Amino acid sequence: MPFAKISQTAYYVPDQIVTNNDLSKIMDTSDEWISSRTGIKERRISRDQETSDLATIVAKQLLEKSEIKPQDLDFIIVATISPDSMMPTTAARVQANIGATKAFAYDLTAACSGFVFALATAEKFIKTGSYQKGIVIGAEVLSKTLDWTDRRTAVLFGDGAGGVLLEAHSQEHFLAESLHSDGSRGQSLTSGQCGLASPYSKQGINNPYVAMDGRAIFDFAIKDVSTSIKELLESTNITGQNLDYALLHQANIRILDKMAKKIDLERKKFLANMMYYGNTSAASIPILLAESVENGIIKLDGSQTVLLSGFGGGLTWGSLIVKI
Ligand code: ACO
Repeated sequence: MPFAKISQTAYYVPDQIVTNNDLSKIMDTSDEWISSRTGIKERRISRDQETSDLATIVAKQLLEKSEIKPQDLDFIIVATISPDSMMPTTAARVQANIGATKAFAYDLTAACSGFVFALATAEKFIKTGSYQKGIVIGAEVLSKTLDWTDRRTAVLFGDGAGGVLLEAHSQEHFLAESLHSDGSRGQSLTSGQCGLASPYSKQGINNPYVAMDGRAIFDFAIKDVSTSIKELLESTNITGQNLDYALLHQANIRILDKMAKKIDLERKKFLANMMYYGNTSAASIPILLAESVENGIIKLDGSQTVLLSGFGGGLTWGSLIVKI
């Protein structure tokens, strides 16, 4: 049976940097409030690029770096909660943009867990033996999903995309996974709610913007996500000593601080870049991964063991332990 290996990484963020001080000019907020509560200092905001534009740049980089042809790709999965449109999907647009004529392409929606869910799915495609190469991207232009008059949410998010090339390999690299959902708590983090609107229906809730019960999400991350990571590590006998890095969804630096204590893992093993990009939902883990490869922290030579863990809307949460 073939196994799957992450053989290349790439990321792209829009040029425009918006600092906390910039935001304080358009809403009642401050660098002190945002930095002390979230760790975020700035984020990238797209002026004129759509989600598929960011994802296409990442896909092209992956092909260039790995020197493979677009026609060699068997699939493209884009994890996103901010697609250009429901139809065609962002992944289908990427497929057309790069000329990956043989690849099937679809979007996967699992909010901030989207990249981890998509990677876990893609790994299974490779394992069937029917597919050899595929691209998994997390891409978001969340700035178009925000209510820019709501300081409770507008300051938290940013735009960007990251992705990986997944290829068939003779050795096992995906060591363990645990994926979870709890729809009963879904209302604590919502976006893109389109209510019933036909001439035959009562009007339903119509709120396209991100809305969040921040405390509930904070508690969820600390309790449920920490517990599932702990259980996953215990089930695989992987301890803090033989785990090199933890790449968690980049929502909030205080979540990472508290999780490190709960999971009993050295804080320095938790990589972080939300200071520069804010919360980019499905894109946060692949951006962090690709940036860590770029600056030499992660080698991509199969010598390191990393934890990838996403959590967010749905509610959803999921972790993968990968030899990378
Ligand atoms: N600037 C200044 N003041 C603000 C801002 C802002 N941007 N936003 C809220 N406030 C005010 C509120 O109005 C409130 O004022 P009041 O006491 O006069 O009513 C006060 O600050 C405290 O508001 P809270 O919402 O209680 O702030 P809290 O301390 O809980 O921090 C935060 C909010 C940072 C969102 C926190 O709950 C949190 O970290 N939650 C985790 C969830 C998260 O990071 N979500 C990201 C998306 S979900 C995900 O990715 C998993």
